Parts: sequence; C-alpha cells; structure tokens
Amino acid sequence: MLIDNLSRRDLLKAGAAGALTLALPRTAWAGAPAIVKPLPPEWFIDYGSNAEMRWDAARDQGYLIDPARFFVRNHTSTPAIDAATWRLRVTGDGVRRPLELSYRELEKLACDHETAFVECAGNGRGFFGSQQGTPASGTQWRLGAIGVARWRGVRLREVLERAGLRPDAVDVMPSGLDPAYVSGGVDYGHVRRPLPVAKALDDALIALEMNGQALPPDHGFPARLVVPGWVGVANVKWLGSIEVSTSTLTSPFNTTFYAGLTQQNVKSAFELAWGAQLAAGRRTVLHGRSWSGHAPIRHVDVSTDGGATWRRATLRGQNLPNAWARWELPWTPLAGAHELLARATDRSGLTQPDSVEFNPSGYGFWAVVRHPVTAV
Ligand code: MTE
Repeated sequence: MLIDNLSRRDLLKAGAAGALTLALPRTAWAGAPAIVKPLPPEWFIDYGSNAEMRWDAARDQGYLIDPARFFVRNHTSTPAIDAATWRLRVTGDGVRRPLELSYRELEKLACDHETAFVECAGNGRGFFGSQQGTPASGTQWRLGAIGVARWRGVRLREVLERAGLRPDAVDVMPSGLDPAYVSGGVDYGHVRRPLPVAKALDDALIALEMNGQALPPDHGFPARLVVPGWVGVANVKWLGSIEVSTSTLTSPFNTTFYAGLTQQNVKSAFELAWGAQLAAGRRTVLHGRSWSGHAPIRHVDVSTDGGATWRRATLRGQNLPNAWARWELPWTPLAGAHELLARATDRSGLTQPDSVEFNPSGYGFWAVVRHPVTAV
C-alpha cells in the first residue's frame, strides 16, 4: 500500500512541497490518511474519517453501488493488512475447537453471497437539526451513509460449525483490526460488537468480495462481516477474531454506542443533489431508492408540493430484502422553490413517519426527508 513505502518524514517533506495533493487526497494524520481511496467532491461529502455518498452520484449507478463511490465510516483509520500473514481466529467457551483460518482457506470456502445494504445507524442524523430543530452531535450525515453491494464470502454459520459451536452458545463477537477507538480521553478498544447466535447462524456472511472484487482496504480487506438488515456497526470490517460465548457479551459498541440497535427502519432518498436545479416547465423524471431492514419495499409515495398531495411512484427492477427498491415518477415543475418528499412502506407494513423522537446520539432518523429543489 502507498503509505507502507513512505516514512512519516517523507510524507511531511512531500506534503510541505505540495506534492501530496494528488497522491494523498485525504488529510494525513498520524502519518496516514483515515480513508485510503480518493474522495472526489462530485461523489462524496468528506467529513474526515467518514465520507457520505452524494445521492446525485447514484443516478448513473445500477442496483449496486460501485466500491469507488460507496460511503465510508471509520471510527479510526483504514489499516494496511497483509493477507498472506493475516489469520481469522475463532475463540471462546462457546466453541469446542478454537480455530484459525488463513485467507486462502477462507477463499476456498467462499461460495455464498448476499446482496445487502450497509447503512450507518446515524444516517440522516443531520435532519434532527435541520428538519426537526433539535441537533444531535456526531457526523451530520444527510442520507448518503448507505450503499448496496453484492458481497461474496463464507457463511458465519459454516465457520462456527467448523469450530464446534456448542448448543448453549448465546453471543458471537467479531472484532476489527483497526486501531483502538479513543474519544474524549477514553480508550474503547477495537471496534467489536456482539451478535446473538440466532442472527449469526441465520444470514451473516464473512465477506471477502464486494461486487466481484476483493474487498477494497476501506471496506474491510481482507474480510468483513455482513449482517443483512442490521445497523452498520454490526458489519465489522478488518475482521481479526470472533469470540463465541455461552454467556452474554458486551462491548462499548453495544452499550455506550449504538445500544439496542438491530434492524434498520424504512427510508427513502431522491437521486438528486441537495438543492438541485431543474428546468422549469419541462417534464423530468424523479428517481429515487427506498430500503428497509425489515422487508422489501411495498410502495413509495412522492409529494412535489411539500406534502400537500401525494402520487405513487413506479418501482423498477429488483426489490430484494435487506437491499433497496429503485423507483421513478414524472414531474413538470413550475418555476420556483419546491420541497420533494418520498415516503416508503415496506412489506412488513412499516411506513416512514413525518418526524421521529429525538435521541442525543442522533441514531435512526427514518422520518420523511424534505428535499429542496429549485426550478428555473
Ligand atoms: N468495523 C471496524 N473494524 N471499524 C469501524 O470503524 N465502522 C462500522 C462498520 N464496521 C467500523 C467497522 C460502521 S459504524 C459502519 S456504518 C460500517 O462499518 C461502514 O462500512 P463501510 O465503511 O464499508 O461503508
């Protein structure tokens, strides 16, 4: 990896000479960028160690989002991991035969796949402030902390069974190899979060590939967990170990942060820039996507007049569980400012509300978003 070949002194020298702007588009801290891939401003809103996808950049994407455009959420920074020496360890009193697997061994087992979203629990957090007047601290995401990819890998179930999963095991805790997360002077350790055995055995996947290519470094190379439908933090990147226990496990990532969060609620976004300009008096087609961690999408209603009247959008193409449905609706805007709203209902009957209750961490904003556009 780029950074491996450069000493910190080289970095500082090159940075001072202005030579790093192309090679290292990210702010270098502690000698390394928090996110490795380029974050062109036409695709991303850059928050430092996090970057959200601009929804207008999804317009030319198919059902899957290209890894180059996929949002990134790092508690610290993307580590450089050598797959040749990397091992996945399965430990704890919940397994009879603790296990160590190499990348090659996992690759041989990797014959399952899941098309699923990864979405941050805080996606939409910015709207607690801008739409409901009660700002929550943390990254002020709009709706771009989500992407759908086709993940290929090994079922977690299969690895647990190889390790001799005990029938009385209750929790499974995957742990990441990125640096320990330190905030406000407190060291919370590696990102790790327990998962009940039932979900681990159901559809969780140890993913090695994203859309047919090895995982990119920022998305968890060499292996990450994919927990379909659940909050982003469950999808632990840069997997190093998996602890299996016959008693309940906890970590700061399910007690101090992200407490009690499992499945994601239903949400919608327009494939438009925030404050997009449209041609007045000309027919256009509005496009968007809706998703839910509970069930596929049943229908999506769209309002182009700030919520006064609603029309049903047409769903197009795939509508997979734990992924999303794409939809469209024609509209001829009059000149002036407009607010576009999209309200989805999933097949479990869950409908996006007009507002959601405030929580200080700003998790779970699933209310209908008022998207401003102007027609000129
Ligand atoms: N895993 C590790 N090891 N470290 C992290 O910082 N962030 C989590 C999760 N897995 C994180 C992690 C969070 S909060 C989210 S939303 C997703 O990864 C983001 O995945 P992505 O960066 O591939 O989009």
